[in-house]
Amino acid sequence: MTKSIYNLQGREFIVVGGGGYIGSHVCKMIDDNSGTPITFDNFSAGHKHAVKWGQYVDVDLRDRKATHAAFQKHKNVKTVIHLASSIEVGIGEKQPAEFYDNNVTGALNLLMAMRETDADRLIFSSTCATYGETTNMPLLETEPQNPFSVYGKTKLAIEGMIQSFHKAYGLNYVTLRYFNASGADDSGEIGEEHNPETHLIPIALEAAAGRRPRMKIFGTDYGTPDGTCIRDYIHVNDIALAHIKSEQAFDNGLSNAEVNIGTGVGISNLEILQTIERVTGKPVPYDAAPRRDGDLTQLYADGTRAKELLEFMPQHSNLENIIKTAWNFHRQKWDL
Ligand SMILES: NC(=O)c1ccc[n+]([C@@H]2O[C@H](COP(=O)([O-])OP(=O)(O)OC[C@H]3O[C@@H](n4cnc5c(N)ncnc54)[C@H](O)[C@@H]3O)[C@@H](O)[C@H]2O)c1
Repeated sequence: MTKSIYNLQGREFIVVGGGGYIGSHVCKMIDDNSGTPITFDNFSAGHKHAVKWGQYVDVDLRDRKATHAAFQKHKNVKTVIHLASSIEVGIGEKQPAEFYDNNVTGALNLLMAMRETDADRLIFSSTCATYGETTNMPLLETEPQNPFSVYGKTKLAIEGMIQSFHKAYGLNYVTLRYFNASGADDSGEIGEEHNPETHLIPIALEAAAGRRPRMKIFGTDYGTPDGTCIRDYIHVNDIALAHIKSEQAFDNGLSNAEVNIGTGVGISNLEILQTIERVTGKPVPYDAAPRRDGDLTQLYADGTRAKELLEFMPQHSNLENIIKTAWNFHRQKWDL
């Protein structure tokens, strides 16, 4: 665990979505650096048991009045970290109304509530899913944004709102476009607990542990060395670190930026499975399935801007460490 990266003594942070996978790791890292996280969450997907650092406020961002009231109670907080969102891409395609409502209306309510308080810094969780189809890897922030999914479209809409609030009202912001969040805190006390779980690593760990009979690999005929898709897996504590680095960058005068948060290393689906077999000592039974619509062959970040603007470099993201920490968390959860 990385301690004392930047002294946050005396600072409070509103962490919206702090009960979720990434949010709980952000709260822990704020606490590790002597700051105080205040979680705002409706626990639609997150967990009260994951709020172990600081207090929580049970609030739904879609409820404008309740959101304003929650912000008013913490009106002296300067920095807001906004992670709350509907995230399951498949559900977004079937229920766009709910997705836009939760993500876009929720973000607008948050931005409007912030205007009535001292909060003039926002760190926003965006995604590599806002980019369009491209083969230019590693992927730069300047690539066109033409998202394929409803999920990506909602995130791009929020990025636009934040830019407008910056221009008109002077909001300072860092939009972090995460690549694939993965792994868990070394302690194993928090980790990835989505329901439904759609992410490759926890699904493959379930298969290794015998909690699902087999899993699917979507597409084995891509133009990659082993035929499977390539993605950029970044350890969740490196994502948390990017938030601390964003606060530091605000202190150093940064007023607005869109930044990729990835490792720059592409890893194939089969490499993930092989590493899981090695770390757990158990086979991962899988079947080859057809490609899914919208899945790019490969996607990995250019990290130059993150290094230049945020002084951010991943520290926890070698694949072995990602799998070990995720396995440690799941073994504790499943009592293995
Ligand atoms: N997990 C990834 O690989 C990944 C990659 C790119 C971007 N992101 C983004 O990072 C953020 C966090 O992702 P995560 O994996 O931790 O998801 P998560 O589902 O674990 O956490 C999201 C949290 O937001 C809360 N929430 C949702 N809607 C809310 C609302 N209306 N009001 C209050 N709280 C609400 C949920 O209860 C949950 O605690 C999301 O915005 C996601 O889009 C995640």
